[in-house]
Amino acid sequence: MAKKTVLVSGGAGFIGSHVTVELISAGHDVVVADNMSNCDMTCFEGVKKITGREDLPFIKMDFCNAAEVDKLFSEYPIDAVIHFAAFKAVGESVEEPVKYYKNNLISFLNVLETASKRGCNVLFSSSATVYGEPDKLPVTEESPRQPATSPYGNTKQICEDILSDTVKATGGKIKGIALRYFNPIGAHPSALIGELPRGVPNNLVPFITQTAIGKRECLSIFGNDYPTPDGTCQRDYIDIVDLAKAHVFAVTRMIDGKMKKDYEIFNVGTGRPVSVLELVNAFEKVNGLKLNYRFAPRRAGDVTAIWADPTLANEEMGWKAERTVEETLASAWAWEKHLAGK
Ligand code: UFG
Repeated sequence: MAKKTVLVSGGAGFIGSHVTVELISAGHDVVVADNMSNCDMTCFEGVKKITGREDLPFIKMDFCNAAEVDKLFSEYPIDAVIHFAAFKAVGESVEEPVKYYKNNLISFLNVLETASKRGCNVLFSSSATVYGEPDKLPVTEESPRQPATSPYGNTKQICEDILSDTVKATGGKIKGIALRYFNPIGAHPSALIGELPRGVPNNLVPFITQTAIGKRECLSIFGNDYPTPDGTCQRDYIDIVDLAKAHVFAVTRMIDGKMKKDYEIFNVGTGRPVSVLELVNAFEKVNGLKLNYRFAPRRAGDVTAIWADPTLANEEMGWKAERTVEETLASAWAWEKHLAGK
């Protein structure tokens, strides 16, 4: 595999920082760009420490500004871009749809416009949210997309379509891949990078670790009357390092000319359903502690159960989730303790 330069937009965030580490360890050059609207420099500093790359290029910029995007592409010999730069809070997107459509669509359009001019391949970070409440489980890439239940989810669907249309319009001059993430959790084994939610966490694992460390009093488990084995929702929790590695496989496939179609979609999940209660129990067991939790009413907008069929990613990309949920939950706890200076 030839060494390539990969632009990671939104590269200072949770997923972007883990992807940057894995790209560097696979031998690529990486350019990290971020507007820092939803993170600080903690993870970028952690990436530099883990990789020993003090000279790692970092550009603070706004992907909604087309001129800035164009300038970035003219300054670095970018072969592929992995696009993370987007807002991601489901609830906020319902309250402020214009903010979400404006940011998530314009930034992606700018990246695509420049990338297609320069013949640069594009990997888009999509989400299992495009499947909505599935009729059949597990979901494959062929499972129908359901109408989005939030503007955030809609931006994922729209961006997938924009990518597919653009790749088609260039006649395959640029290639595109959309990775549909299930529920990314955990942290790097070094505990130097991880999830850094601002304010009260929306997602389950940061809420669990913040409760365990004493920052939150009690975890509310949203609903125990779902038609699932223990009554709580089921998800496919994918380790963040495993997820990051899927990007290396995807980028390599794109730049080495191994794609079967000019636009491809892959599920990135484990294929294992885990309920909220099972996850809480596993967290307690692996970390040897008791978590303060209670059952609360269902949260609006939650699907009952969703997990991936990851066969396509396993067989086509050669990628497979490797870390156990216990290892992942231990890493999430180590990260929370690192943040607390413990
Ligand atoms: N949950 C709780 N208590 C909490 C937080 C979450 O019980 O404090 C439960 C939820 O009800 C759900 C499960 O934990 O059953 C997972 O919830 P998360 O918020 O961690 O994840 P979601 O499955 O809701 O979110 C995922 C992605 C989002 C995406 C969303 C679409 O993380 O990016 O699916 O529905 F938009």
